[in-house]
Amino acid sequence: MGAMKGKICIITGSNSGIGKETAIGLAKMGAIIVMVVRNQERGEKARTEMVKQAGNSSVDLMICDLSLMDSIRRFAKEFKKKYCRLDVLVNNAGASFSKREVTSEGFERNFAVNYLGPFFLTHELLDLLKSSAPSRIINVSSGLAKNGKVDLDDLQGEKNYAGTKFYSPSRAPAYDNAKLMLMMFTYELAKRLKGSGVTVNVLMPGFTATNLGRSSGSLSSYIMFKMVRPMQQSARKGAETSIYLASSDEVKDLTGKCFAKKKEVASCPTSYDEELQERLWNKTESMLGLASNRSTL
Ligand SMILES: NC(=O)c1ccc[n+]([C@@H]2O[C@H](COP(=O)([O-])OP(=O)(O)OC[C@H]3O[C@@H](n4cnc5c(N)ncnc54)[C@H](OP(=O)(O)O)[C@@H]3O)[C@@H](O)[C@H]2O)c1
Repeated sequence: MGAMKGKICIITGSNSGIGKETAIGLAKMGAIIVMVVRNQERGEKARTEMVKQAGNSSVDLMICDLSLMDSIRRFAKEFKKKYCRLDVLVNNAGASFSKREVTSEGFERNFAVNYLGPFFLTHELLDLLKSSAPSRIINVSSGLAKNGKVDLDDLQGEKNYAGTKFYSPSRAPAYDNAKLMLMMFTYELAKRLKGSGVTVNVLMPGFTATNLGRSSGSLSSYIMFKMVRPMQQSARKGAETSIYLASSDEVKDLTGKCFAKKKEVASCPTSYDEELQERLWNKTESMLGLASNRSTL
């Protein structure tokens, strides 16, 4: 207790699974937790449990749908009204969808929640992270990113979409693609933040028993997730690397790195393609209408 005393930590998707255990772990160390969830009721239930388990009542709950940019914009505004600093941002929320669906804003769902949302949330909070430096950004990716592909002409699978289980040389599941993009975003952002005192790292939590897959929209993948449960690590174990990156002195100056099991690891070769990282960044900024305003990132 005490190592994170008074540090303000946002953890997205913290009503369930790895995010919830990350929040509990950091709350136990004395952090002020801001749970960012999309459902008030699920959030309240988790908050009650968290306060009890961590013995720390500094747990705030704020609502945001990470697949909707409008919701992210509103959340960031509200957060800045309430808090004047931000020490740690954990972009943890994620989901996988089998069928191609688009959000009310027209973005493909895997792309929106696993990549575009974290990109935009980070963008919206970056001025605060910079003014609170030293501060940390932690992006929760996946080992499945190694299967991902980044097709700049078809980022949202409009021409060539695969759900969760179809692998071929020409297409990969949209979830895997989005998790690869999140990794590339991490590395590009680290370059852009050099010297700012804000670090950004990415992690692969490992195969973990959580609710992931529940929202995939496919009965077969839901059943598959249930069947493999005995092979999965606990959510508490799955949260260890997020907690480590958010709190350990050992990594306070490290940035632009990938971690698994609390160790620095190499990610897949494509993730290190610097030209692709930059082109993806520029394309994402255009999609979000940020291209003409380069002042914050
Ligand atoms: N479990 C694994 O084996 C594994 C492996 C590699 C990577 N990961 C990654 O680890 C992270 C945490 O996932 P988990 O395994 O802990 O799964 P989980 O139990 O399903 O938790 C995911 C969290 O994200 C939230 N979320 C989903 N869509 C959202 C949206 N549109 N807006 C706001 N919040 C949203 C969920 O909220 P609701 O409860 O409201 O749905 C939930 O709180 C994800 O990024 C996932 O991709 C997991």
